[in-house]
Amino acid sequence: MYRTHNNGALRAEHINETVTLAGWVQKTRDKGFMIWVDLRDRYGITQLIFDEERTPKDVMDLAKTLGREFVIQVTGKVIERESKNPKMPTGDVELLVEQLEILNQAKTPPFTIEDATDGGEDLRMKYRYLDIRRNPVKEKLIFRHKVSIAVRNYLSDKGFIEVETPYLIKSTPEGARDFVVPSRMNEGQFYALPQSPQTFKQLLMVGGMDKYFQIVKCFRDEDLRADRQPEFTQIDCEMAFVEQEDILNVFEGLTKHLLKEVVGFEIENFPRMTYDEAMAKYGNDKPDIRFGMEFGELNAVAQHKEFKVFNDAELVVGIAVPGGASYTRKEIDKLIDWVKRPQVGALGMVYVKCNEDGSYKSSVDKFYDQEDLAKWAEATGAQPGDLICVLSGEAFKTRTQLSALRMELATQLGLRKSDEFAPLWVVDFPLLEWDEETERYHAMHHPFTSPKPGQMELLDTNPGDVKANAYDLVLNGNEIGGGSIRIHDKETQSKMFDYLGFTKEEAQAQFGFLMDAFQYGAPPHGGLAFGLDRLVAILGGQETIRDFIAFPKNNAGRDVMIDAPAKIDEEQLKELNLKITL
Ligand code: AMO
Repeated sequence: MYRTHNNGALRAEHINETVTLAGWVQKTRDKGFMIWVDLRDRYGITQLIFDEERTPKDVMDLAKTLGREFVIQVTGKVIERESKNPKMPTGDVELLVEQLEILNQAKTPPFTIEDATDGGEDLRMKYRYLDIRRNPVKEKLIFRHKVSIAVRNYLSDKGFIEVETPYLIKSTPEGARDFVVPSRMNEGQFYALPQSPQTFKQLLMVGGMDKYFQIVKCFRDEDLRADRQPEFTQIDCEMAFVEQEDILNVFEGLTKHLLKEVVGFEIENFPRMTYDEAMAKYGNDKPDIRFGMEFGELNAVAQHKEFKVFNDAELVVGIAVPGGASYTRKEIDKLIDWVKRPQVGALGMVYVKCNEDGSYKSSVDKFYDQEDLAKWAEATGAQPGDLICVLSGEAFKTRTQLSALRMELATQLGLRKSDEFAPLWVVDFPLLEWDEETERYHAMHHPFTSPKPGQMELLDTNPGDVKANAYDLVLNGNEIGGGSIRIHDKETQSKMFDYLGFTKEEAQAQFGFLMDAFQYGAPPHGGLAFGLDRLVAILGGQETIRDFIAFPKNNAGRDVMIDAPAKIDEEQLKELNLKITL
């Protein structure tokens, strides 16, 4: 037996027991006649003591050779500590070692395996197995496990069946590029890794599974960000014989359950907001509603004077920054520079200081009088002591820019508190979005999403106005899930591919299997998928998903530990009938 207890287990009640422990040497303190060793495993740390007077000499000598991260096994007697450590669960006791075996030696680790390490991101990723020994990483993985188990139990209890779907498939359009895998047995042909199991879960509904879920890997070749990985995990769900309302209720139930079980947060009902409302109030389809700073549209009260910049703008819109009237000129200039950065792209910013005495001081006093500025304050909800920041220009762009400023200011003001949770549903998304690059409409969610009843006809005249039965679940300004009610008849699906610019042949070649299935009694169905990595990160009070993934990729999509992607040798290329021409 390697161990009788783990390193988090021993308490005062074990005093005088002889036990065997195993683990890693966290640190040693050698006073010559006495050596203390902190022995660590997943469960905690136990202090070992080697004492010249009480420990056999050969064991004492061996103990002197121990280095950091050596793997050892010790047997000894649990004794009461002279100076107790109330901060450690095992802090009342220590183990007086009688036998020591070095199970494996260790090179000195490239960074300290402590809560606050001296290792930079790259180094920690290269030696991720060492990083995982650190509490903050280990705890995040355990936290993820708890969320996954809670999800499985909840959905299983509600009658959902977990079904695995294949990874070697054909392209599923979720808006990213596919990762492809060459087929040895089918020369010149490729599988695509699923961007999501979308078509398979719909086929499971045709197959009568009725309530499906799967905690499943998805693969998307897209630019990486803090909340995006090329392979990530979804809690993918689908239900038959449901309307949007049914889906929202079931998955609001799941999210409430997780919030309560995992972070102890209770909330009555999730607010709902239409896409149009979210864009108008927050300039964002995933608004962070933990704080206010809602947009105030100013066209009506800012386009009546000689200020050309505003008069020429499609939209003039502002937000009130709480307490911002006290910003110095330098601080305001910094904000202006911030919105002018290429990542935000505003041309400038107009501001109004709302003084405590009720007067206003603006950067456009030449054009606007106190009465005008009072109207701006009213529209943005600004109070005495606040600063109004105003942007203008093309409507969508300006909203996006002001949204970025709103989030930045909220971060600066400490309004995005990680222990507060503000979920909401955003509903009534547009069915299509215009893509400047290809000059075509794309499905905003995916091409299997159904338009709102009676709106199919609008596709011919005002495609941009058609709303979909599509919804997103937003938590603290992050899209943690999204889904839709699907099209379930061949004719509508075929029409949709038409609108999206597929030829009949292309649609048949890519999605013929789905449209064929729709001819054999497809039930009305719909669903959604949560991003598990995002959900776990946000429940854990963070927005970077990488830390919650055991072996994540870096920003260039590389696994620096195993050094992937990598070249393959000539033999393998030949076998796959591939030629690299670089
Ligand atoms: P969607 O594309 O919105 O929907 O994805 C669902 C959720 O997955 C998460 N997500 C990601 N997480 C990490 N890294 C990524 N690269 C990444 N991309 C997406 C997000 C997102 O809300 N098949 C549909 C679902 C459906 O219609 O039922 C789908 O995949 O949290």
